[in-house]
Amino acid sequence: MIPAKFPMSEAKQRAAQKAIDYLEDDMIVGVGTGSTVACFIDALAAWKGRIRGAVSSSEQSTAQLKSHGIDVIDLNTAGPLSLYVDGADECDPHKRLIKGGGGALTREKIIAQASQRFVCIIDPAKQVPLLGNFPLPIEVIPMARSLVARAIVGTTGGQPVWREGFVTDNGNAILDVHNLRIVDPVGLERELNQIPGVVCVGLFAQRAADVVIVGGEPVKVL
Ligand code: 5RP
Repeated sequence: MIPAKFPMSEAKQRAAQKAIDYLEDDMIVGVGTGSTVACFIDALAAWKGRIRGAVSSSEQSTAQLKSHGIDVIDLNTAGPLSLYVDGADECDPHKRLIKGGGGALTREKIIAQASQRFVCIIDPAKQVPLLGNFPLPIEVIPMARSLVARAIVGTTGGQPVWREGFVTDNGNAILDVHNLRIVDPVGLERELNQIPGVVCVGLFAQRAADVVIVGGEPVKVL
């Protein structure tokens, strides 16, 4: 008998639940954005009295954290964090990621950088041998959108598409770059960061994840 495909929502739930193992009493936890993180925030509610609070990467996650009565703390007040939990759109075998499908990449990258341990929670469909099938999100200053798009075509050969109608929590625009085959994620992240007008590149390669939890049957911790 062919086993039924493991439901994606269940995979996200399982990955999120496993990330609870990384919590410690009295910590301030960094919290990402997305549907997998939404499962994590729901699970975090049971820890409300044990953690000091959370640093949030988006208005969406902030609203959900507050709905559970979890204190949302400014990163400048929190200082260095011991743990950041977030999802991803793609994850390669070196735990390098594409993120930003939800548009929260800039704050996500800031919190990842501020954190000692980055635990990434994904469903199995996010695992790829090479990054780039998922369009790479790049947050740009609105007036630089066309300039950055032309520079991206010139340097990568990829096709930037403006995420029209979408404004980030920082008031900026997103370009999603299609048709990339990212063989050198660290180099590409560095190169794209040099383009004036780029706020943040959704490649998390210079600061990759430390732990990747893949929800599924069984849950895998990489
Ligand atoms: C948001 C992100 C998310 O982590 C990413 O899009 C994955 O989302 P989901 O858990 O809904 O699949 O980077 O900016």
